[in-house]
Amino acid sequence: MIKSSNIQPDFDKLTVYDSAVLASKYTAKKIAELILQKQKEGNRAILGLATGNTPKMVYQELIRLHKYEGLSFSNVVSFNLDEYYPISVNDEQSYTYFMNNNLFNHVDITQENIHIPHTDCSSNQISEYCLDYENKIKSYGGLDLQLLGIGRNGHIGFNEPGSKFDSITRLIDLHPLTREDAIENFGDLDNVPHQAITMGINTIVQAKKILLLALGERKSEIIKKALNGTIATEVPSSILQTLPQVEYILDREAAVLIQK
Ligand code: GLP
Repeated sequence: MIKSSNIQPDFDKLTVYDSAVLASKYTAKKIAELILQKQKEGNRAILGLATGNTPKMVYQELIRLHKYEGLSFSNVVSFNLDEYYPISVNDEQSYTYFMNNNLFNHVDITQENIHIPHTDCSSNQISEYCLDYENKIKSYGGLDLQLLGIGRNGHIGFNEPGSKFDSITRLIDLHPLTREDAIENFGDLDNVPHQAITMGINTIVQAKKILLLALGERKSEIIKKALNGTIATEVPSSILQTLPQVEYILDREAAVLIQK
């Protein structure tokens, strides 16, 4: 554990917007810029994508840019952070369903360039599957940009408190708070899976650029800990404090407890 109670967040890496809409539009702009830059270079853009309520408006803006401003996703290769285990890709609560509904069905990304952990394999195939996912990311030269939300317990992806900083893609037990927050989508706690596949912390921190987006007052407590608190596995997102390639994008409500 690195003791860092005196470390203040590097405010050059933090932008606070007046509203969730503005924060989301800025985030989408950063993603679009990367896609365009890679297009100019004749390269693919390797994107790590997130689910949850937080990125929804980012995806809406990307769809708008595609429909009305000619942004093409033809050079995009995507890797999603995580998926519940077990779940069927056809379930409305699955992240495959979420991504198709909120982004992929509305842009010109090639189906074969989309990667989302599929958790319909049997338990003895999981470790091999996770290693393949990790290696697939590496085979593309790693992630150019990783979009992150943050869980109320500080998780990124589904790297729950206690996740090792050198962890890679794997099966993980979901934290009670994570399962409680998922009731919103599953209707009842009994319907929420107990496990998930997630990219590891080490997988995430290898990304060349990381955008962490947090919106709303319910994220303010954990944002304070993640940005100002001790760097420790109890708050997995705290590791981001050590990385030069991270940008924190907050709306005013999420930033309310951060002293400038
Ligand atoms: C889930 C996802 C995370 C996400 C988090 C926050 O746990 N696995 O990647 O960041 O939820 O969700 P929300 O954006 O809905 O607050």
